[in-house]
Amino acid sequence: MNRLTLSVIKADVGGWVGHSGVHEALLSQARESLAAAEGLLIDYHVTSCGDDLNLIMTHRHGVDAEAVHRLSWDTFVACTAVAKKLKLYGAGQDLLSDAFSGNVKGMGPGVAEMEFVERPSEPVIIFMADKTEPGAWNFPLFKIFADPFNTAGLVIDPKMHAGFRFEVHDLYEHKKITFSLPEEYYDILVLIGAAGRYTIKSVYSKTGEIASVSTTQRLNLMAGRYVGKDDPVLIVRAQSGLPAVGEILEPFAHPHIVAGWMRGSHNGPLMPVSQATATPTRFDGPPRVVALGFQLCEGRLIGPQDLFADPAFDRARSEALVLADFFRRLGPFEPHRLPLDEMEYTTMPEVMKRLEDRFEDLSD
Ligand code: F6R
Ligand code: MG
Ligand code: MG
Repeated sequence: MNRLTLSVIKADVGGWVGHSGVHEALLSQARESLAAAEGLLIDYHVTSCGDDLNLIMTHRHGVDAEAVHRLSWDTFVACTAVAKKLKLYGAGQDLLSDAFSGNVKGMGPGVAEMEFVERPSEPVIIFMADKTEPGAWNFPLFKIFADPFNTAGLVIDPKMHAGFRFEVHDLYEHKKITFSLPEEYYDILVLIGAAGRYTIKSVYSKTGEIASVSTTQRLNLMAGRYVGKDDPVLIVRAQSGLPAVGEILEPFAHPHIVAGWMRGSHNGPLMPVSQATATPTRFDGPPRVVALGFQLCEGRLIGPQDLFADPAFDRARSEALVLADFFRRLGPFEPHRLPLDEMEYTTMPEVMKRLEDRFEDLSD
């Protein structure tokens, strides 16, 4: 069987204006770079969410293919040059190294890739978020693949009734564990409720079919200092024994709270938006998510359909704005500002250093 690979590789290589968007010159440079790699890719779609440039690519080379990673890296380098020329903000920000070494993982860009045999009809949704981190997908992924109150198919569709397997990564200890749901429904929640540390990397059907994969790298952990949140991507396959498009979108009908927003240091609502309005402005936010739907046809990307442009998500947006008002009123107080251990990877420890010597022991 001819297996297809769907790769989404993204990076922030320069913002317009500040950290709010991607300039058209970068998008067209990226398109030009990918078009020049004739023969390597079957198809591609270049897009953005906030200040992140997303390369959506299909090919036959499998996940972690050096040629595809090299092409992505070279594309980001070319876009960085354009960003520098226009003095865009934070040009080259996510390219943590000067030289490509075979795989973009660990070098800054975010990577979500899956390989599968294309079904007779293959609907996929690509979620892209800005001003948040990979753990932002834990809540919706749990709802999509494990919550019968969200996904009717878990109860009604005999193909889904057995449940799904979830691979969870511990980003601090660099370990992974797989849970089988619904049997381990309560166990998985012990971990994934702590979304800053444990993230759902992938979801498989009980027959071993890949259903979803996310980016899990935490750039701030990799760099040991604040270099932006990781603005994650998520791929979900839909329909025919997998959750329906509407079941996959449903968790976003009410915004959940994610870490990120201003200076990567604040909790706030994740607002579902159309691609055209994915430009976080208020307090550099609130964090946003875009959902682009494609039908795959022999690897060709038929789309996108801008799924959150639907007015059915207007209420979610209003709710997000109400929550944004609420959180903003707290200013530098938790739980708007992140807890201290999360602030370790921001610029705040430098400020705290100045106070170190002034601490005196309590007498009792
Ligand atoms: C959050 C983000 C922005 C910046 C903020 C300060 O992920 O990218 O909120 O942290 O605009 O940016 P600098 O320090 O570059 O002025
Ligand atoms: Mg940025
Ligand atoms: Mg970003």
